[in-house]
Amino acid sequence: MNLSRLALSLGQSATLKLNELANNLKAEGKPVIHLGGGEPEEKIPGGAFSESKKLLDGGFVRYTPTSGTAPLKKEIAAYTEAHYGVKPGPKNIVVASGAKQAIYNFLVSVVDPGDEVIFPAPYWVSYPEMVRLAYGTPVVVRPRPGELLCSAEDIECHLTSRTKAILLNSPNNPSGQVYPESFIREMVEICEGRNIYLLMDDIYNRLVFDGLKAPSAFTFSKKPLHDSNIVSINGVSKTFSMTGYRIGWSVANEAVTQAMVKVQAQVSSCPSALSQAAAAGALREGDAFVEGLKKSLEKKRDVMVAELAKLKKVKLHKPQGTFYSFPDFSAYDKDSTKLSNLLLDKAMVVTVPGVEFGLEGHLRLSYCGSEKDIVEGVSRIRKTLD
Ligand SMILES: Cc1ncc(COP(=O)(O)O)c(C=O)c1O
Repeated sequence: MNLSRLALSLGQSATLKLNELANNLKAEGKPVIHLGGGEPEEKIPGGAFSESKKLLDGGFVRYTPTSGTAPLKKEIAAYTEAHYGVKPGPKNIVVASGAKQAIYNFLVSVVDPGDEVIFPAPYWVSYPEMVRLAYGTPVVVRPRPGELLCSAEDIECHLTSRTKAILLNSPNNPSGQVYPESFIREMVEICEGRNIYLLMDDIYNRLVFDGLKAPSAFTFSKKPLHDSNIVSINGVSKTFSMTGYRIGWSVANEAVTQAMVKVQAQVSSCPSALSQAAAAGALREGDAFVEGLKKSLEKKRDVMVAELAKLKKVKLHKPQGTFYSFPDFSAYDKDSTKLSNLLLDKAMVVTVPGVEFGLEGHLRLSYCGSEKDIVEGVSRIRKTLD
């Protein structure tokens, strides 16, 4: 088969592969419990439904401007101002087909072959491969043993003259940890001082528990948005339970935004008009939906933590946000792939091996499903391992 070196070198998305596996097993009637998922079980907000229906009822579903429709950008601007302390104009926003495409647009727009993009482990599974897709070099910074968050010094000692960007996801998939204010402030200072980009993957940023708030990088910036080194990625997939709509966006300075629009214009023209209408409807509806989702996830987080505490040899940093936990199972098996396979074979529970997130010895267990599944899934794990 005549495939490109790039295609041959790319790894599969472990999480999407496991989703497919879980769905196939369920379709075969197997009593599988999927603790590997990455989407809330809640229905979409009412505004998302009514706005997309309105467009559909009109009978015209057309291309939109490449960077997104004016009504959606208006909602994104208001949302960004309310939650991130900066008000973007239409020339600072690109609506994309998911946060994933927004990250890809950014990387392709700023990374030259051989440029380095730094991100801490544990990281979202797609970061290394997306950096490679842009012909960049992923540079992974690992936390100290037993920790899930790097320090600013850990990041600093990986900076080189080829560093183009630092990529952060807070709260973090898979660990659920929130980077503290002091860390984010230092990252902003480093990036502004060296004139490199700070990409904040803020996709879970509103899903934070215990009265905490994930700090917004913009609040520590000394630069106005039109000159900013910060690029914020966001979307409706997680916070509004709209994964299937595929709407994400970027907020960045105008030059980077223009480059990202060019990339998107040549790759996908624009995101779906129906999905953009739905996303505007969801954002317009305001905070009630997000607050409800957050409350429900916080309760499920507590159930997950209580169930995991029953395992004899698991170590857990309590998740502060998202809908993932990332317990250390290394006392059972240091090889997370082997352990994940064992749990699928013996307990029919789908988990994601920590090695896929750059941190061996852990498993990612999601708590976005039903409480019943969380209790039953972890109980099966316990029976298998203890
Ligand atoms: C950290 C992180 N960033 C980005 C995304 C992509 O989001 P979207 O579904 O909007 O493309 C995900 C999805 O799992 C994620 O976990």
